[in-house]
Amino acid sequence: MSILVTGGAGYIGSHTCLELLNAGYEIVVIDNLSNSKFETLKRISELAKKDFKFYNGDLLNQKTIEEVFSKNNIDAVIHFAGLKSVNESIEAPLHYYHNNISGTLSLCQMMKKYNVKKMIFSSSASVYGMPKNVPITENSPLVPINPYGRTKLMIEEILRDLYISDHSWGITLLRYFNPIGAHESGRIGEDPNDIPNNLMPYINQVAIGKREKVNVFGKDYDTHDGTGVRDYIHVVDLAKGHLRALEMVIRTTGIDAFNLGTGIGYSVLDLIKSYEKATSKKIPYTLTHRRPGDIDKCYADTRKAKEKLGWKAIKSLEDMCRDAWRWQKNNPNGYNK
Ligand code: NAD
Ligand code: UD1
Repeated sequence: MSILVTGGAGYIGSHTCLELLNAGYEIVVIDNLSNSKFETLKRISELAKKDFKFYNGDLLNQKTIEEVFSKNNIDAVIHFAGLKSVNESIEAPLHYYHNNISGTLSLCQMMKKYNVKKMIFSSSASVYGMPKNVPITENSPLVPINPYGRTKLMIEEILRDLYISDHSWGITLLRYFNPIGAHESGRIGEDPNDIPNNLMPYINQVAIGKREKVNVFGKDYDTHDGTGVRDYIHVVDLAKGHLRALEMVIRTTGIDAFNLGTGIGYSVLDLIKSYEKATSKKIPYTLTHRRPGDIDKCYADTRKAKEKLGWKAIKSLEDMCRDAWRWQKNNPNGYNK
């Protein structure tokens, strides 16, 4: 079975490509490398001991996508390709709407033309915005609070309309919580450009000595220690969730959304302490002001994924920290040699 992976050179895509190859799927990857490196693809092949086809192309380019579908017998698509920075999406909304939404539209048009009607889409917990209640179920109100989150919700709605128009589609919307960590080989991981916005890559850079200390955003949230609480999930658990979703989507039609998280909320200080324990590295930090747009706590109700996909995250916070550090230590400059 041949799976087209869009954005397969990225952080979550690369880990999922490896799991797919290890499970015996053939994969075809398309990525414009706007936020990733070719080196990642080499390492996936090396780890899986298998080759695969790669198109260095943009989803916005209809000709390239047509080539992908006309030259390969694709059975299903896992669609990761998209821009993902909340801050950037506020500064450049048109760029985000164009890339994420138009890219998805041209992909779907080509899927329809070539009668490929199975898709897994990378959505995000950001579609829930500021949740009134935690844990967050899939039925919670969908009120994203930034352009990035709105691109995700709009795409979910486009895909629902597509299914309504043609019931032979099978579409799974996966709403990720906070993916962190890296493959246990230490060969693939998260490689942010510039100063990391997200907590775990920032901690990693403090641990390796690139940054002095972590600025903990907010100390007076309504949480057990006053710092923000999130549902951190190991990227390999997350990648495996895609395989379970794929098995389901291949044999069914319909459209459904699933939270992918652990269901456990940890604070910023919990994560720092766990990192120190897992790695024996000291992580200096200071408590500072809240980051605009942040919420106090966000974690998933994971029952639906367990019941319907038969999937559950199994790796602990310490596993996530240990693997994140191994990746950082072995690749101090990410994929740049
Ligand atoms: P990433 O940036 O590492 O990977 C996305 C990949 O898509 C990159 O390799 C990029 O080069 C590629 N891409 C972007 N636009 C493209 C286009 N028009 N044509 C071809 N390739 C294109 O991000 P990630 O963390 O691996 O996230 C994957 C998906 O999951 C994204 O859609 C993201 O919004 C979503 N998501 C990520 C997180 C997270 O915390 N990482 C959380 C929730 C949802
Ligand atoms: C952010 C995005 C979210 C996206 C997710 C994964 C925002 C508002 N939300 O989520 O849409 O899906 O990334 O890409 O940007 N923190 C610090 N110091 C830091 C960095 C973070 O204290 O230097 C805190 C934050 O306040 C938060 C927690 O750490 O409480 C996690 O932050 P982060 O990793 O950025 O993820 P989210 O804010 O949950």
